[in-house]
Amino acid sequence: MSLVRLVLGSLTLSLAATLGACAATPLGATEAAIAGAQQKSPQGADIYARECAGCHGKRGEGLSASPNIIGAGALPTYARDPSTTGNVALQAENQQQQNLRPPGQQTRQPFKTAADLEEFVSHWMPLPQSRVGSLKPEEYWAVVNFILVAHGSPVPPEGVTPANAANVPIAR
Ligand code: HEC
Repeated sequence: MSLVRLVLGSLTLSLAATLGACAATPLGATEAAIAGAQQKSPQGADIYARECAGCHGKRGEGLSASPNIIGAGALPTYARDPSTTGNVALQAENQQQQNLRPPGQQTRQPFKTAADLEEFVSHWMPLPQSRVGSLKPEEYWAVVNFILVAHGSPVPPEGVTPANAANVPIAR
């Protein structure tokens, strides 16, 4: 009897440890980071909520087949290969292809700076295809600004602009 209890007890403990480990690395930005970004870029926050959150999640955690785009592990340097899993957000870094995609999938340049992110987003988002390019240039900049502040990138006080974007790194 006591052996059973011991085994059950340690099972419960290891389950708790596993759940704890998962909770420690959730996808997406923290609520606090989102609130901070909303304050710094209210326009970007509105655009994000309206045009992006339906697929990428309120905190950028990624919903169904859309990748996580804010927070730990998001915006990896090289594109993830969507053919290996239905949810690219779950793909390990070492499974990411070096900027190659299967035929028919868009490629993207490495994500190093805010300029790379803005170029990708303004050329490929928001989906579906019919909506691509539907935002004004300043709206694309505003949403990139919101995403990078929430992501923890060192965005200068004046925000990300066409003039400084190449000097604002995407935080890793
Ligand atoms: C209808 C769903 C949908 C909407 C709306 C949408 N996206 Fe996406 N987005 C996707 C999917 C799916 C991918 C993955 C495409 C791929 O990997 O080929 C993606 C990829 C991305 C990526 C690249 C992520 C990476 O790691 O390679 C970024 C950045 C991004 N979206 C930003 C945005 C922004 C900003 C908006 C709003 C202006 C937006 N998306 C709106 C579905 C969406």
